[in-house]
Amino acid sequence: MLNPKLLHKFSIVAARAAYSSSLLKGQNDKIAADQAAVDSMRSYLNKIEMNGKIVIGEGEMDEAPMLYIGEKLGTGEGELLDIAVDPLDGTTLTAKNLPNAISVIAVSEKGNLLQAPDTYMEKIAIGPGFPENIVDLDNTVEKNLKNIAEFKSVKISDLTVCLLERDRHKKIINSLNKWSVNIKFISDGDVLGAIYTCIDSFKVDMYVGTGGAPEGVLAAAAIKGFGGQFQGRLVISNNDEKLRATNLGIFDMQRKYYLNDLVKGDVIFCAAGVTDGEILKGIRVEGSNFLSDLLVLHSEQKIIKIYTETLEI
Ligand code: FBP
Repeated sequence: MLNPKLLHKFSIVAARAAYSSSLLKGQNDKIAADQAAVDSMRSYLNKIEMNGKIVIGEGEMDEAPMLYIGEKLGTGEGELLDIAVDPLDGTTLTAKNLPNAISVIAVSEKGNLLQAPDTYMEKIAIGPGFPENIVDLDNTVEKNLKNIAEFKSVKISDLTVCLLERDRHKKIINSLNKWSVNIKFISDGDVLGAIYTCIDSFKVDMYVGTGGAPEGVLAAAAIKGFGGQFQGRLVISNNDEKLRATNLGIFDMQRKYYLNDLVKGDVIFCAAGVTDGEILKGIRVEGSNFLSDLLVLHSEQKIIKIYTETLEI
């Protein structure tokens, strides 16, 4: 099991990254907002007593100067940890000061998080309390919805599905419309999209669709903390992406990853709000402090907490 003290340490890193990028919200510069989060995250991760390695980061070494996959972080003393980061999930949301941008980190023991290339991933997620594999990436959307509706003893039209509003989801959207399913569209930020399925008040029964593969692994970490279900499959669309996958040790491009393939063993997940959102409020400055809303999860410890941290600027 991961040292329980790590949860607080990593939550502070997420909060600090969220603060740094929040300074650039509404500035219409998504690169600068991302860079601010990256710089902060890297510098605070390096202060943690650990032998950390980035397994999900800003990309592969040749394209990302910082927080690249394989980068070693921490003081070099302490536990061997795998770290997945998305310093800013919602770069456009931050640049435009729209809701739901977050800074995200997940941590496992060495070797326990999938090293995913920066490609797309097909994803499906549901919250806790359902029989194992009641939904499946290989089922039609209708079949998945029918299974959920049957289990809940409700009509399919009573269900709500969350997905990214993208043209590539036209077929899924048509199926949802055909069955009069409620749709919660998101414009960006599909880590939170998957998390909605795990928080009762959102009444989101299923998350589905294609988004970033790194965000998929992070979402899987969160879903594990909540006790929900998640499946993902990489979408490899050209030789370059195939090469990047094989460089990370992935040879079966069609493989369907179950939650425990993406995230083995114990996992810690921390998300900090950057802009005001539905689960987490954005950063607020009060005098020489800032307030950061955090969602923190530790799977083995069964910790699921949303709270506000006050930190000195
Ligand atoms: P960024 O913050 O890195 O821009 O990612 C936002 C995001 O919406 C992710 O949450 C999602 O996985 C991905 O982009 C979807 O990609 P695309 O915008 O190309 O459909």
